[in-house]
Amino acid sequence: MSIYLGINIDHIATIRQARDANYPSPIEAALLCEKSGADSITLHLREDRRHIQDADVKILRNQLTTKMNLEMAATDEMIAIARKIKPQDCCLVPEKREELTTEGGLDVVSQIPRMKDVCLCLGESHIIVSLFVDAQKNQIDAARECGSPVIELHTGHYANATNEAQLTELEKIKTMTTYAHSIGLQVNAGHGLTLENTTAIAKLPEIVELNIGHSIIARAMFIGLEAATCEMKTLILEARE
Ligand code: PXP
Repeated sequence: MSIYLGINIDHIATIRQARDANYPSPIEAALLCEKSGADSITLHLREDRRHIQDADVKILRNQLTTKMNLEMAATDEMIAIARKIKPQDCCLVPEKREELTTEGGLDVVSQIPRMKDVCLCLGESHIIVSLFVDAQKNQIDAARECGSPVIELHTGHYANATNEAQLTELEKIKTMTTYAHSIGLQVNAGHGLTLENTTAIAKLPEIVELNIGHSIIARAMFIGLEAATCEMKTLILEARE
């Protein structure tokens, strides 16, 4: 089975917002990523609009030729935006104002009624919903109970760990990927993935899509965005051979 690469372009917008300038353009970046082999483009519209802006989402929805994966918190404001924009995919994440990046998976278990409503509401707009969860059985079961067809497993703990601890985290992801797939969920994964740690995740046969941002954009500073996209795409495809 093939594996797909979603590229998160938030940090192109981070550089733009650092100077409140009109460059670099996340639109141009997204189109270049698509041209270079990205299978979808992910962007996180945060409540504080620290990087991606509403206009970016609107413009990209019309210009992307692959798929838009809109990452967002499950707030009423974001749900209304998603229903209007109608991205192909929507990944629901927890959001804290003070965090540097998404720190952990959603606690779906504690908010099943709300998440059920949100999944239903987005599903009615023909948006494929994905819940970003840690590799924990109770969260995966809850995601399924809420009617989410897809989960994205949080690879941040694996990415931040080293040596034995990293192998333990990898084992959790491996077991939970197989489990989630066995109960009928599509399994994506992402967060903190780099050229050094992605192969082991891409090798897991049930994983359908990897969403990677920071490391690709950082690498692009030295080799360019086209080359950085191709490099990661080649790496994940080779992991499957
Ligand atoms: N997937 C999700 C759900 C995320 O929140 C993020 C970060 O925005 C990513 C993937 C990409 O993570 P990174 O930028 O560390 O590659």
